[in-house]
Amino acid sequence: MSTIRLGDEAPNFTAKSTEGEINFHEWLGDSWGILFSHPADYTPVCTTELGTVAKYKDKFDKRNVKVVALSVDGLDSHKGWVLDINETQNTTVNFPIIADEDHKVSELYDMIHPNANNKLTVRSVFVVDPDKKVKLIITYPASTGRNFDELLRVIDSLQLTAYHKVATPANWISGDDCVVSPSIESKDIPDIFPKGYTEIKPYLRMTPQPDSK
Ligand code: BEZ
Repeated sequence: MSTIRLGDEAPNFTAKSTEGEINFHEWLGDSWGILFSHPADYTPVCTTELGTVAKYKDKFDKRNVKVVALSVDGLDSHKGWVLDINETQNTTVNFPIIADEDHKVSELYDMIHPNANNKLTVRSVFVVDPDKKVKLIITYPASTGRNFDELLRVIDSLQLTAYHKVATPANWISGDDCVVSPSIESKDIPDIFPKGYTEIKPYLRMTPQPDSK
């Protein structure tokens, strides 16, 4: 296991999943990707998380994001638990769940934190861009379910800032004003941002979201 940092290539792997064997990079294709781990099957918080992700399929599709879950439970366990998720969360699980019984992927991605639990994965999230570069890493403890609206918000920011010379301020949501990248000189702003800008300080310049109508 080596440390994975932002900007690194997401390590590739092949693994068994509820939708057949996955080669991670091939499976991603030209999409953005989310690889997220959960501690165990048949547990309450995980059940709500996977149900929520299934219900967010349209939101992920709209952003060209493919989602894959992982835990160290086996394929038969995953398949039985999916029936419970579908029943209790009123949805249909529509993404693969990796069965990482041999810990191959969880060790590759450092998803087992022994001082939290030496057998189970924590709630890791890796967002990968279409070049297979790691763009976001978040880790939650087992006792805290993730906020998938926050994940969508960050993906909106990652996708916006990948294509426009802006950054997004605190609590930004899509549609809000953005920060002009510090690398841009004020004299160049009118050409780059025809919607205009406000200079609050020389280093703090705001502009309307470049790609919003
Ligand atoms: C849960 O998903 O509910 C859970 C899993 C492991 C530890 C605590 C909670």
